[in-house]
Amino acid sequence: MLSNFRQPLQNVFLRSEKAFDRVYGPDWNPLRQLGTIAFFMFWIAAVTGIYIYIFFETSVNGAYASVEYMTHDQWYLAGVMRSLHRYSADGMVLFMVLHLFREWTFDRYRGVRWYAWFTGIIVIWLLYASGLSGYWLVWDQLAQYVALGSMEWFDALGLFGEPVATNFLTEGALTDRFFSLLVFIHIFVPLFLLFAMWVHVMRVSQPKTNPPRGVAIGIGLMLVVLSLVMPAVSHDPANLNLISENLNLDWFYMLFYPIFDAWGGAALWIVAVGGSIFLAVLPWLPPLKSPKPPLVILDHCNGCGRCYDDCPYGAITLVARTDGLPFAQQAQVNEANCTRCGICIGSCPSASPFKSIEAVVTGIDMPHLDIKKMRVQVDEALAAAPGGIILVGCDYGPKVKELKLKNTAALRLNCVSMLPPSFIDYMITEGAAGVMIAGCAECGCRFRSGVWLMQDRLDGRRDPYLRKRVPRERVRTFWASLLEDSKLQEATQNFQDDLNNLNVEEDNDV
Ligand code: HEM
Repeated sequence: MLSNFRQPLQNVFLRSEKAFDRVYGPDWNPLRQLGTIAFFMFWIAAVTGIYIYIFFETSVNGAYASVEYMTHDQWYLAGVMRSLHRYSADGMVLFMVLHLFREWTFDRYRGVRWYAWFTGIIVIWLLYASGLSGYWLVWDQLAQYVALGSMEWFDALGLFGEPVATNFLTEGALTDRFFSLLVFIHIFVPLFLLFAMWVHVMRVSQPKTNPPRGVAIGIGLMLVVLSLVMPAVSHDPANLNLISENLNLDWFYMLFYPIFDAWGGAALWIVAVGGSIFLAVLPWLPPLKSPKPPLVILDHCNGCGRCYDDCPYGAITLVARTDGLPFAQQAQVNEANCTRCGICIGSCPSASPFKSIEAVVTGIDMPHLDIKKMRVQVDEALAAAPGGIILVGCDYGPKVKELKLKNTAALRLNCVSMLPPSFIDYMITEGAAGVMIAGCAECGCRFRSGVWLMQDRLDGRRDPYLRKRVPRERVRTFWASLLEDSKLQEATQNFQDDLNNLNVEEDNDV
């Protein structure tokens, strides 16, 4: 049932990403930076939090007044810091929720990605605990509402014998020590949150946790402008004898309080815990059917480490040699981390198609599409489009197999970076007029780094690179989303025209 929503939502993301690409370019597209922006928001909240803590007074009577001082007397600095603190905390929720939806929509949460998904759920709880504990500190009427609501929510569990809400949160019972406890919570829960965020990206190789500088500056400026135009302010001071009716709830954090008011604590526990359990089991509803992971073929692996360097999920390690060959190390695949992208196959310098089919070998191979089968598929494509264009596409970009153009043939891989560059050389040598590599949109690669790895290999920046002898005008790349089949058609047509002109020029030269 859920999957009925996925396609429309994916289309919304893809169309919005395309529109944002036009404005910001692929590198700075915020929709492709949702996780890193959430990280950035955390740092803003941390730095501004340290600043406002300097002026904060940890006492029942002093807390509200100290926040008022920051907001009104020192509005130009502490006030701006307070607003930045609040808006970055809100931004974290916003970007986290968008990030969650994006990962789900693009089916990047099943298989080995269950780990990031699962730890993401812990992050949600810690983020809410961090944000809500912050709201208590202001000790205005909103803080009172949040504090009472939260305590009553815990009371609904019936774990504490006597109700915490009425014991702690009454005029006489509230002490400065209680405020010290709140400050302690509001410092330590975010530290746990940071730890959980680190655990969240731990299985990703060289995770990107900082947005590109331009995005960071843009978002930072937007937050500053928002803070100046709409500074964060407090409600009236808390008064435990009063229940305020007119509260401006922060919907990023307080969405659930009206549910609590309407349905009671037990219902909210069912929503919160039930929702978390539902999210936690989602990666197995249904589980992802993955092909077998890559196999290291020791006879052809010299332990050079290129597959280790290129694997986007840290699924390859280098271990001491076990077969007595005169090399120090060998590659080893960790199945639990492997997304089966096949990028390691493309990075192995042993892979060469310039041999008889029996002699084609590599150091690391994909059982469901081994290097020999890949060579056979390339030969079939060359035979299907003699002197034409060979399109190499992936399962998540434009659909190369559906292209209706004369004298083109297509090869579809899980990721375009699975193709060793020597195969491109082979295609041109064996008579293809050109090779078009058509993968996911730039910065939108399903496997994080497939697009730039291929680009770097083609441009000679990364080993194994495409040999210099391959005429670059016969190799073209096209990075786009799976909604852009017609653009691929157009780009291939243009490529075909350019190749025809090139052939004419070359004939004239001869
Ligand atoms: C403040 C909260 C969060 C932050 C800062 C954050 C940050 C990140 C970052 C930076 C990455 C990718 C690293 C990279 O590819 O280089 C990532 C990956 C991921 N996140 Fe989050 N995340 C947060 C919350 C969540 C939540 C709530 C979920 C879902 C429940 C989630 C699910 C995922 C998944 C599934 C991936 C893996 C994508 C892949 O393997 O390609 N994240 N996160």
